[in-house]
Amino acid sequence: MAVPLANAPLTTDRLLVRPWRHDDAERMLDIMSRVEVTKWLGDGAPYVMRDLDEAHARIDRLAERSATPPLLYWAVEVRATGQVAGSVLLLTLPNAEDGEVEIGWHLHPDSQGRGYATEAAAALMAHGFAGGLPEIHALTHLDNAPSQNVCRKLGMHDLGVVERWYDGPSQHFLITAQEWRARH
Ligand SMILES: CC(C)(COP(=O)(O)OP(=O)(O)OC[C@H]1O[C@@H](n2cnc3c(N)ncnc32)[C@H](O)[C@@H]1OP(=O)(O)O)[C@@H](O)C(=O)NCCC(=O)NCCS
Repeated sequence: MAVPLANAPLTTDRLLVRPWRHDDAERMLDIMSRVEVTKWLGDGAPYVMRDLDEAHARIDRLAERSATPPLLYWAVEVRATGQVAGSVLLLTLPNAEDGEVEIGWHLHPDSQGRGYATEAAAALMAHGFAGGLPEIHALTHLDNAPSQNVCRKLGMHDLGVVERWYDGPSQHFLITAQEWRARH
């Protein structure tokens, strides 16, 4: 299957998944300076963004990390308002031995509870499988029920607790391209 040279924006009923832009820096800072959001991301002590300079630097870094389709780390924009709700990502896992790819999501608290994470992630999953990924993983903290709920709604299987990729235990979810296609 031919993989396109660049990722194209993804449109759903309510959302546009597109690159983070420098004019989103204040919103990026508003999201990433909230420990109630960042404490669920990755491992170790929560990262807390301090200022707009950091937001601009991160936007540059995310553009670099989104340069190899189908991998990306993009903004989720609400089409009706133009407001950025948060981020979705499809990236190679840290310490991946076989190029395993994870899907992830985080939203500003003002945008949670509306189905945006699941809607954006479903579009991203379709994009990843169309781009040739054989399977997609998700890793959550053991007590992250909202994120595990998103995984289940996407049809991912709960494979239990793993201590791989990230430091410490994670709840591991997986879906294969074949399983995804059978659902859609
Ligand atoms: C994880 C996270 C992204 C989940 O966000 P979310 O908004 O709860 O997820 P969803 O998109 O599935 O929406 C959830 C609820 O919206 C509600 N909802 C409201 N309007 C809706 C609509 N039009 N369509 C669908 N759902 C709707 C649903 O009831 C759904 O809950 P349910 O599945 O229990 O019925 C969010 O909690 C978050 O950002 N947490 C902090 C960061 C984080 O933990 N990231 C993940 C790290 S692994």
